[in-house]
Amino acid sequence: MTTHHGIARIVTTALSGTDTVHLVLEAPWLLQARPGQFVMLRVGDGTAPLLRRPFSLCAVTHSGIELLVKIRGNGTERMARWPAGHAVDIIGPLGNGFQPPPAGTASAVLVAGGIGLAPLVCLARWLRDNRPECAVRMLLGARTGTDCDALIPFIPPSCALQIATDDGSRGTRGLVTDLLEDAAVLRPAPVFYGCGPMPMLQALANCARRAGLPCFVSLEAHMACGVGACLGCTVPAITPRGPAQVRVCADGPVFDSRLIFP
Ligand SMILES: Cc1cc2nc3c(=O)[nH]c(=O)nc-3n(C[C@H](O)[C@H](O)[C@H](O)COP(=O)(O)OP(=O)(O)OC[C@H]3O[C@@H](n4cnc5c(N)ncnc54)[C@H](O)[C@@H]3O)c2cc1C
Ligand code: FES
Repeated sequence: MTTHHGIARIVTTALSGTDTVHLVLEAPWLLQARPGQFVMLRVGDGTAPLLRRPFSLCAVTHSGIELLVKIRGNGTERMARWPAGHAVDIIGPLGNGFQPPPAGTASAVLVAGGIGLAPLVCLARWLRDNRPECAVRMLLGARTGTDCDALIPFIPPSCALQIATDDGSRGTRGLVTDLLEDAAVLRPAPVFYGCGPMPMLQALANCARRAGLPCFVSLEAHMACGVGACLGCTVPAITPRGPAQVRVCADGPVFDSRLIFP
């Protein structure tokens, strides 16, 4: 798919909880974007901040895209204040996106760590609309119940949802990957998809390898160009040609977990 540069318009900006923002954007050139792809946004009006910020698509709608953004620093704080009608300079869609499960696949397990939920919401919506035979289980991990409450409204009701929190205030106390030990998660044999912190993805990849099941992980990295030119986002991988550095922006952000966690 061709990558385009364009000006999107903010339809709504809404705070969910204390530090999560849901942005709805009108962006007609992004309607063919796929789950797992991302966009690079210019967050300032002038030159500061200089670098565009990468965000996964949380939804592709009939008129544009939706983003789910955790406020972290200067750029995301600005985004949280964007009013309706604000013009946003965007490059996208970028990256390769999630490989959909083959038609007829009975089950998919989506494992999200915090704001890593965003691209998995997009995938869950795509599966609901395009693989109705596929039962989708969403495993969501967060630090607290309050963090969970900010994210849960975006999960399609078509997903079976299980939650783990560090403090046990929602769902099970512990790591989201502890939920993979529930035998029911592996029946019928699922395809795994994950997005979140690297240790979480490593644990997910280990589980998939032990069970002999396919697993795709979406990685985050600091990005400068977003299009494969600067090599600022590389991570080590074992490719079919041997050990190599792969670019998260252009070769990913979604990888077969066996490449990243051999
Ligand atoms: C492919 C991709 C998809 C992403 N999708 C989403 C998404 O859907 N929702 C979302 O909220 N965030 C997402 N991110 C992370 C997001 O790009 C950063 O949170 C954002 O750029 C921070 O900008 P800032 O100006 O607010 O923070 P800065 O002021 O630049 O930094 C504030 C703090 O955030 C940390 N930070 C900055 N960038 C990243 C990063 N890429 N990964 C981890 N920590 C970072 C910095 O180290 C610093 O501690 C994604 C990142 C990538 C690479
Ligand atoms: S951000 Fe420049 S190569 Fe990935």
